[in-house]
Amino acid sequence: MYRSRLGTDLSNITLDYVSSIDNDSEIALYDIIGSQAHTVMLLENKIITKNDAKKILSSLENLKNEKFDSSSGAEDIHELIESLVIKKAGMASGGKMHTARSRNDQVVLDIRMKIRDDINIICNCLLDTIEALVSVSKNHQKTIMPFYTHLQQAQAGLFSHYLLAQADVLSRDFQRLFETFERINLSPLGAGPVGGTSITIDRHSTAKMLGFDGVVENSLDATSTRDFVAEYVAMISILMTNLSRISEDFIIWSTSEFSFIELSDEFTSPSSVMPQKKNPDILELTRGKTAEIIGNLTAILTTVKGLASGYGRDLQQIKSSIWSTSKISISALVIIKSIILTMKINEKQMKKVTESSNLIALDIAEKLVQEGIPFRVTHKIAGVLVQLAHNSKKPISKLTILEIKKSVKGTKVDPKIISKIISTTNVVSSLKDRKSFGSSGYDEQKRMISDRIQKINIWRSNMTTRENKIKSSTDELQKLVNEII
Ligand code: ARG
Repeated sequence: MYRSRLGTDLSNITLDYVSSIDNDSEIALYDIIGSQAHTVMLLENKIITKNDAKKILSSLENLKNEKFDSSSGAEDIHELIESLVIKKAGMASGGKMHTARSRNDQVVLDIRMKIRDDINIICNCLLDTIEALVSVSKNHQKTIMPFYTHLQQAQAGLFSHYLLAQADVLSRDFQRLFETFERINLSPLGAGPVGGTSITIDRHSTAKMLGFDGVVENSLDATSTRDFVAEYVAMISILMTNLSRISEDFIIWSTSEFSFIELSDEFTSPSSVMPQKKNPDILELTRGKTAEIIGNLTAILTTVKGLASGYGRDLQQIKSSIWSTSKISISALVIIKSIILTMKINEKQMKKVTESSNLIALDIAEKLVQEGIPFRVTHKIAGVLVQLAHNSKKPISKLTILEIKKSVKGTKVDPKIISKIISTTNVVSSLKDRKSFGSSGYDEQKRMISDRIQKINIWRSNMTTRENKIKSSTDELQKLVNEII
């Protein structure tokens, strides 16, 4: 449609090479709504007549149900929609739709509208997942489990504490995306190809009609930068690495060696050959798809890093990276939430492992500290106790007074004190004594759970306010369109 300056048409192979039409279905509706807002603005500012606006807007309205034909010969959805509007409305009116805008501000408008909707979907999915973690944690405030460092047993903890940790991690993902939205929800429309327009348009009016919080002011910035895309995909990359780590925990814990959890059948896969198998493929795919999203981020950053200021066609290539990032992360969140809600927790096994592994060594050392002994000395004593228990293949609680005496050699500590501490220390007492702020002891769980529930409620209502604002703007635009047509 635009090739009047050029002598020849593109060959089929070249057209296929330059075309983004196959990828543009994701933004077709945004393109139509954005074009409607632009048309209403052109009318309001007397740049086109009511009759022109009526014809353009009703053609656009009809296109909302169109199944776009990717073999139309158009290079992208913007060209296709404009050519269909001209076909339906006639050149005299339809030919005015593209006044005072360019595909450069148009495409980035569509991308911003798409990402802001995706952010809202993902934020809601995040809140659902956080809520699932907190609700399961309520039932596991007494479920004892070993906590690990270096994947070696470290301290006794509670399963609720593990789940609340993941809820906090995902809450940060929520907050990051919630803030990213503020930088994305700004309208580039009307920035033109790069430097604005001589026609007296009103950029603030289109921004308002489309539910934006403002405009991207500088026309060069508005049309050519994609830092907001990189920011969005970076935030999702971090989110996915968090989901990937949870997946890895669940994969390890569902092995027969650990047997801490059993995944629901619907989230596992059989083997084509080994009949006994129940594989955690879905979680493995979350790990795998995380790599794909990090790849998307790399593709985007690599594309923008070498571009001169002003739109370059390279930017077309990053669109599919955005779509796949959104699609994968939404599914990953929906799935992980259901996995958390449906998995079985093997409380007995978790407790058994915790109790059989001298995880109370630090608690013994800390109790000795309460007797006025320096921690470095108590650490040494507890270390010797563990070594003796390990060598004689019995738990610390079964050490004899003679053995205990060996542990205090060279110190002035009375072995009877140690013997008494050993006999009164176990995993349960250790979790009772663990009262430091944010610790994995019993007392902290209840406080953290009610605090997180309050936060979720506030975030939910912030989301509703945000979504309602966009919805009421676009409903208002639809009303205006209906009145005109
Ligand atoms: N299909 C293009 C994209 O996705 C739209 C903008 C084209 N602009 C241009 N000057 N060729 O980025």
